[in-house]
Amino acid sequence: MSLIDDIRMTRDISRETLEQLLTTDDKESIEDLRRQAREVATEVYGNKIFMRGLIELTSHCKNDCLYCGLRRSNTTASRYRLTDEEIYACCATGYRLGFRTFVMQGGEDGWFDDKRMCRIVSTIRKQYPDCAITLSLGERSRESYQALFDAGANRYLLRHETASAEHYARLHPAEMSFQHRIDCLWTLKEIGYQVGCGFMVGSPYQTFDTLYADLQFIRELQPQMVGIGPFISAHDTPFADFPNGKVTYTLRLLAIIRLLHPHVLLPATTALGTLHPHGRELGIQFGANVVMPNLSPVEHRKDYSIYDNKICTGEESAECRACTEGRIRKIGYETVVDRGDYKG
Ligand code: SAM
Ligand code: SF4
Ligand code: FES
Repeated sequence: MSLIDDIRMTRDISRETLEQLLTTDDKESIEDLRRQAREVATEVYGNKIFMRGLIELTSHCKNDCLYCGLRRSNTTASRYRLTDEEIYACCATGYRLGFRTFVMQGGEDGWFDDKRMCRIVSTIRKQYPDCAITLSLGERSRESYQALFDAGANRYLLRHETASAEHYARLHPAEMSFQHRIDCLWTLKEIGYQVGCGFMVGSPYQTFDTLYADLQFIRELQPQMVGIGPFISAHDTPFADFPNGKVTYTLRLLAIIRLLHPHVLLPATTALGTLHPHGRELGIQFGANVVMPNLSPVEHRKDYSIYDNKICTGEESAECRACTEGRIRKIGYETVVDRGDYKG
C-alpha cells in the first residue's frame, strides 16, 4: 500500500509523511497524490465546481498583520469603502451571472459596524432568499457574530493563519492575539455558521512543524471550508523581501487536505492563480472544488491590494465569470448555479 492509500484510508498523516510528500521529487508519488485527491473530490462533489462571488467591501484595516498590503501602517495603500448601493449592485450583477453565494470580505474596518453590516446582510437575505451569504471580516465579538448570523449570514471565513502561537507572534504585532483568533473560530462554529479556517503556504518562518500543527488544528476544528493559498510578498510591508510561497507545496497541501477531509469545501485561490498562469486549474486537479471570481466594482479592484501583482484587477465581473467558466470547462469540469453547500 502506498503512503497515499494510507492517508486516504486512515484520514491521518504523520509529520514525517507530510514533509516527505512536500519535498519529494518522485513524479509517480505526486501523480498518485493528485489522482487520489481528485478521485475523492469527485466521489463527493462529482465534476462540479462551485463558484462564489467575491465582494471586497473595504481596504481600510485597523490591524497591522506584517504580511498584508492593507495593514494600517502601509501609508501608500489606497483606501476605499463600498457604499450600500454599490454592494447591492454587485449582488444584482452576481445573481444575473449565476452566483448563488456572495462572499463579503474586507479589512477590519469600524465603519462596517454591526448596525451597518446587519442592515446590509438582512437586505441581501430578503432580496436573495436562495443565496448563501458568506462573511470574511476578521475578528469580531460573539455578540457581533450572533447579530450577523441572525440577520441572515450563513458562513464565515476566518483563516487561523498558523496553528503555532510562536509563529503567529512572528506574523503579527504584539497587540494581536493568537488565542483570540482561535476562540473566534470556535465561537463562529457554536453559533451555527459554516466555518472556514486556513493559512498561507510559505508564510515567513513557516516550518514543516507549523504546517503539521495546521493540519492537526483543522482536524480538531472540523471546518466546512479550508482556504489555503501561497503567501505573496506585498511592497511596503515588513515582509516585502521574503520569497513567495511555493505553488508545488500549495497544490500538494490541497491534495493532502482533500484526502484528510473528503467533504471539505476547498477553494483554488486567486493567490494560486497569481503565481501560476494555470494555478486555479491545477488547484482543481489537485482536489479543490471551489473558485471565487471577483464581483467587486472594477474601479476599486486595484486598491484591494493585499499582495503584489494580483490577477483579475482590470476585468469586469462578467469577464471574470466567463473566463473562470471557460478555464474550468477546458479541464473537464463544470461550474454550477448552486449555493454549493457543504456535503457533510
Ligand atoms: N481582514 C480579514 C482577515 O484578515 O481575516 C479578511 C481579509 S484578509 C485580506 C484575507 C486573507 O488574506 C488573510 O486571512 C490572509 O491569509 C490573506 N493574505 C493577507 N496577506 C497576504 C499575502 N501577502 N499573501 C497571501 N495571502 C495574504
Ligand atoms: Fe487587515 Fe486582514 Fe490584512 Fe490583517 S490580513 S491587515 S486583518 S485585511
Ligand atoms: Fe478574472 Fe480570468 S478569472 S480574468
